[in-house]
Amino acid sequence: MNKRYRKTIIAGNWKMNMLSSEVKPFIEQLKENMTKSKTCDVVLCTPAVMIPAMVKAGKELKIAAGGQDVSKFEKGAYTGEISAAQLLDAGAKYCIVGHSERRQYHGEDDMLINAKAKVLLEKGICPIICVGESLEQREMDLTMEYVAYQVKAALNGIDASQVRRCVIAYEPIWAIGTGKTATAEQAEEVCEGIRAVIRRIYGARVARTVSILYGGSMNAKNAAELLAQPDIDGGLIGGASLKPADFATIVKATAEE
Ligand code: 13P
Repeated sequence: MNKRYRKTIIAGNWKMNMLSSEVKPFIEQLKENMTKSKTCDVVLCTPAVMIPAMVKAGKELKIAAGGQDVSKFEKGAYTGEISAAQLLDAGAKYCIVGHSERRQYHGEDDMLINAKAKVLLEKGICPIICVGESLEQREMDLTMEYVAYQVKAALNGIDASQVRRCVIAYEPIWAIGTGKTATAEQAEEVCEGIRAVIRRIYGARVARTVSILYGGSMNAKNAAELLAQPDIDGGLIGGASLKPADFATIVKATAEE
């Protein structure tokens, strides 16, 4: 299936790292290593309090700011939560939902992730929906069934025009922060499978427009090979997105596809 129908996206996930005062110096270092990318959209998903700083600092390199989570509620008495409207107000264009760390440490389930994707779409923010199997599931040969289930559940009730604005990130849990990357073949197999799930629900014309990212120990060394796969349209990068030179190398690897 042809990649020209969809966006290539390199998204960093800073997780719970950095401070607002470090955003500008980070972008300055990035500028030393890259120019505005013509080959991909670049996103940095920061802790919500840093989104305004990222919007400001990221302008010149055309880096979009993103959040890492959102409340399923619109507004009201939900102490500690951040709404989609508030993320939009801060300047977020993207927001991660269903990251395995939120599933694991905050008990998030697929229904909740579906609700979160919907509130983001309503506000015009692109959800980056994370899916991925555990090591046990892979060893039991349940990877594709499990990931297909997660994708279907996350997209439940989302129509074809909205799904075009969704991004799916395949992040095998065993590869996150472990230095153990999925091989390009393993990653492609699941990303291709995810596109097949989307094709079955929405048809081929829609499926070819949805960007599917790989995440899990993607770094400056392995990015080019992963990005060269036909169904991998970018990366969701944790650790390496905190290192400006490495992140720039990954962005530049999209030019080699
Ligand atoms: P690492 O790149 O640090 O493995 O993290 C991946 C990730 O969880 C991105 O969301």
